[in-house]
Amino acid sequence: MCGIFGCITKEGNVAPLIHTSLKRLEYRGYDSVGIATIHEGKIHVKKDQGKIDDVHKIWNLDDLPGSIGIGHTRWATHGAPLKINAHPHMDCTEQVAVIHNGIIENFSELKLELENNGHNFVSKTDTEVIAHLIEENLKKKPEIGLVNAVLEAVKRLSGSYAIAVISTSEPDKIICARNESPLVLGISENAIYCASDMPAFLPLTNKAVWINDGELVIISAKGYEIRRIDDFSVVTRKPEVIDWTPEMAIKQGYPHFMIKEIHEQPTTLRNTLRLQEHYLDLIATFLDRAREVFLVACGTSYHACLAASYMFSKLAFLATYPVYASEFIEQHGKSVNIDSTILAVSQSGETADTLAAVTCAQQRAATILGLTNVIGSTLTRVSRVYISQQSGPEIGVAATKTFTSQLSVLAQLALRLAKKRGKISQDEMDYISEKLEKLPDIVKEIIKTQEEKVKQLAKKYRDAKIFFFLGRGISTATAYEGRLKLMEIAYVPSLAFPAGESKHGPISLIEPGFPVIFICAKDDTHKTLIGNIMEMKARGASIIAIIEKDDEAIKALADDYIEVPKGIPEVLSPIPFVIPLQLLAYYLAVEKGLNPDMPRNLAKSVTVK
Ligand code: F6R
Repeated sequence: MCGIFGCITKEGNVAPLIHTSLKRLEYRGYDSVGIATIHEGKIHVKKDQGKIDDVHKIWNLDDLPGSIGIGHTRWATHGAPLKINAHPHMDCTEQVAVIHNGIIENFSELKLELENNGHNFVSKTDTEVIAHLIEENLKKKPEIGLVNAVLEAVKRLSGSYAIAVISTSEPDKIICARNESPLVLGISENAIYCASDMPAFLPLTNKAVWINDGELVIISAKGYEIRRIDDFSVVTRKPEVIDWTPEMAIKQGYPHFMIKEIHEQPTTLRNTLRLQEHYLDLIATFLDRAREVFLVACGTSYHACLAASYMFSKLAFLATYPVYASEFIEQHGKSVNIDSTILAVSQSGETADTLAAVTCAQQRAATILGLTNVIGSTLTRVSRVYISQQSGPEIGVAATKTFTSQLSVLAQLALRLAKKRGKISQDEMDYISEKLEKLPDIVKEIIKTQEEKVKQLAKKYRDAKIFFFLGRGISTATAYEGRLKLMEIAYVPSLAFPAGESKHGPISLIEPGFPVIFICAKDDTHKTLIGNIMEMKARGASIIAIIEKDDEAIKALADDYIEVPKGIPEVLSPIPFVIPLQLLAYYLAVEKGLNPDMPRNLAKSVTVK
């Protein structure tokens, strides 16, 4: 998730305006920054790795000439956060500059084709192909002009993008296009802006035009023109007046980042389906060859590892050991060795306990693999191979969208491994892969249909002093995650167990009205779970069940239930089933008047042991 911004102004130089607007987009990513302007037939660029303020101190971003320009603040997805990978990216002749937010899925094929045509690439990004494609189109048929050159280039892209392009060939225009990445125009008396998000220009104008998927925009000092990419037909759309404060705009109208990020999950899950196959394959190969595999992480990331241990076992018949990173050295520090493989999972890539476990394993010659959301983090530097989960920055302290993305990546890895090891049928693999593709829509559906119900549930159980979370099989991981969310955000003491364990002790806590949340995936554990529900019900517990739609057997036992769509394969079930639990934690916190974005005593990245 990067921030893009472009502007044509009638008043003076544009660079200082782009600089301050990019500052307002820094919440979308901040590992490198760059600005390009056009002046006297030449593109002028300043860019570097680092936060905007640091780069500005060295390069003075305001000191670029011209009244038309584009700028970018980056959250690395392809290529490390280095100067060379910072946007804008240019073509071979330095006549085209492009900024981009999103992921171009077919960039490797396009790059190869362009290299064979003599193009010289300087970065490791997916974005650079766009500049060279436009150059190629202009070189082959100069008469088509910049707009058509961009149009033909975007038609060849698959994946997600919001782009803005400038070129010396038509120095009075910015061309933008959008597919699945946000893009909005700002219209004021003296300037026109394009940006990933409204906060970029909100202090300058409150008139906005939202651009939809499949649209291209031509911006000039005279105004803007929207066209459909498929047939170039004109789209008429007038500016809307926005009455959001800058604070509201950053949260896109949501009251908190946590709920915004819960709602972002259909998009982030779609992004995890665009991983680079090559890295998935490499990691699967390492896992396949390992004598023992430890899945090492803390907190929510540990719960993703716990779920993954079921995925690897059920799909690839590979036993893996999920271990709390803070316990790894004590538990396995002496036995880990050259035949061991560690898959470390860390959203931030900077969690001290996880890095300490990795260092210990590395010193004993184990292979280190990483899964993280932050390219350039320490974990990416110490891993033999890593995968970036592509969730974009998560601002709420509680992990939500990054958890479901981790699960999706781990499921994809388990499928790869299953294929290598030939343990399950092609039909079964195809079925799970198809469902994985549908998860973004399934999650969207859950949020749409169940959010209000969860809100009411939060009101009903507002004063509960304690909750139980129970599940069997892979749903144990979902139960643990539901408990963690509730404790950290709503400060409600909670317990979670594999449901089968409850009768070995915890059940003695149950008295009439005690709320017990059951995660009831429709898998092999379903029948036994019904027995566990009855045990609790017989002792007067209030049963809250997260069920598949029309699960009549459990509906009949539950005091309250939340439904997720039917037919979700067992190994994927934590993704949809955790959504109501995230919502419950959020709405209980709100009910209690707490700020879910800033839970007391917690930090987003825990860099102490
Ligand atoms: C819970 C939460 C934490 C983190 C944990 C590990 O909502 O966010 O439990 O999951 O601190 O952080 P990462 O994944 O950055 O290593």
